[in-house]
Amino acid sequence: MCHCRGFSARGYPSPPSTLLLCLAVLTLFVSVSPVIGWRPWPHNKINGSDLLFGPSEKFEGSSEFVHLRYHMGPVLTANITVHTIWYGNWNKSQKKIIREFINSISAVNSKRPSVAGWWRTVQLYTDQTGANISRTVRLGEEKNDRFYSHGKSLTRLSIQSVIKSAVTAKTKPLPINPKSGLYLLLTSDDVLVQDFCGQVCGFHYFTFPSIVGYTLPYAWVGNSAKLCPGVCAYPFAVPEYIPGLKPLKSPNGDVGVDGMVSVIGHEIAELATNPLVNAWYAGQDPTAPVEIADLCEGIYGTGGGGSYTGQLLDDRGGATYNMNGIRRKFLVQWVWNHLVNYCRGPNALD
Ligand SMILES: *[C@@H]1O[C@H](CO)[C@@H](O)[C@H](O)[C@H]1NC(C)=O
Ligand SMILES: *[C@@H]1O[C@H](CO)[C@@H](O)[C@H](O)[C@H]1NC(C)=O
Ligand SMILES: *[C@@H]1O[C@H](CO)[C@@H](O)[C@H](O)[C@H]1NC(C)=O
Ligand SMILES: *[C@@H]1O[C@H](CO)[C@@H](O)[C@H](O)[C@H]1NC(C)=O
Repeated sequence: MCHCRGFSARGYPSPPSTLLLCLAVLTLFVSVSPVIGWRPWPHNKINGSDLLFGPSEKFEGSSEFVHLRYHMGPVLTANITVHTIWYGNWNKSQKKIIREFINSISAVNSKRPSVAGWWRTVQLYTDQTGANISRTVRLGEEKNDRFYSHGKSLTRLSIQSVIKSAVTAKTKPLPINPKSGLYLLLTSDDVLVQDFCGQVCGFHYFTFPSIVGYTLPYAWVGNSAKLCPGVCAYPFAVPEYIPGLKPLKSPNGDVGVDGMVSVIGHEIAELATNPLVNAWYAGQDPTAPVEIADLCEGIYGTGGGGSYTGQLLDDRGGATYNMNGIRRKFLVQWVWNHLVNYCRGPNALD
């Protein structure tokens, strides 16, 4: 549900010489409990036996402990259109990176491992009728909210008001498309959002008719570049409290936006499989669902889990990535494959 961030879910392999660091990381793992962070619901402890916990069980996810179930609600089986709201100060090159990532989801001829290959795991999910998640994800209309219509500090509820403004604007409102439209609110690096950085880097839910006039699946993702890159743009930035840890070079030269790409992937995958929060999730409690990307946070490659990102790729300039899109490379977390009961991604080595 939320892309909850804790340092422990990602990291580097720990050579013996960095045993101390490793211990620090393990201590954090125990104390931060990253998998369940803040969600747009009241807090609720998830039944631990339903989930994977503990570093020893987190290698590419664990099979026996995860019971991802289908709860009979709709999933997005029709061509998906992503309508974007750019809130605050966004420049052309930042927008281009994000647009190209979204366009890459259904691109047919990207080099392998590809973003489209990553989406194939999401397509494995079906609804009651056996219809799969749509193969097609398109960029829809866009709305600029350059002048911070609801200020530089947003709450969960004011986020819905921002969406309302975008779909009811006098000029070029975003289209209302409750069946296959996703509304993606992206906030610039100077915007505070409730619980941003502390517990989440993004989340998804659906809008309330009482606020927006419609039930629309939406996600928010923030640019953490100024506020908390070590939390939300990891591993392209690292937390200050871990000495000796070096950030990896990001593939598109923008730490904040390259970090957002993985969070956007996380949220779109979950919106497709659980748009109204009554379809695919694990956990006993529908107020605290654990969804297909929550299960694989921090896992980007083979062997990933615990504090290790898994095996990644390096481009010629020394940047780290794990999949190709149209013209660009991206680092995107894996998602849960319920047929094999593991996290999977296009760069899996087996
Ligand atoms: C957690 O779930 C298991 C099996 O699903 C059940 O046996 C156990 O009682 C549950 N524990 C709590 C605290 O709900
Ligand atoms: C869905 O997308 C596919 C591939 O882009 C296209 O061929 C098809 O016409 C679209 N269907 C609708 C109903 O828009
Ligand atoms: C856009 O913003 C990013 C991050 O602040 C910066 O690196 C980049 O140079 C900017 N690009 C343009 C065209 O202004
Ligand atoms: C649709 O989902 C089923 C069940 O997970 C899977 O076997 C099949 O390969 C999927 N089809 C596509 C096109 O992904």
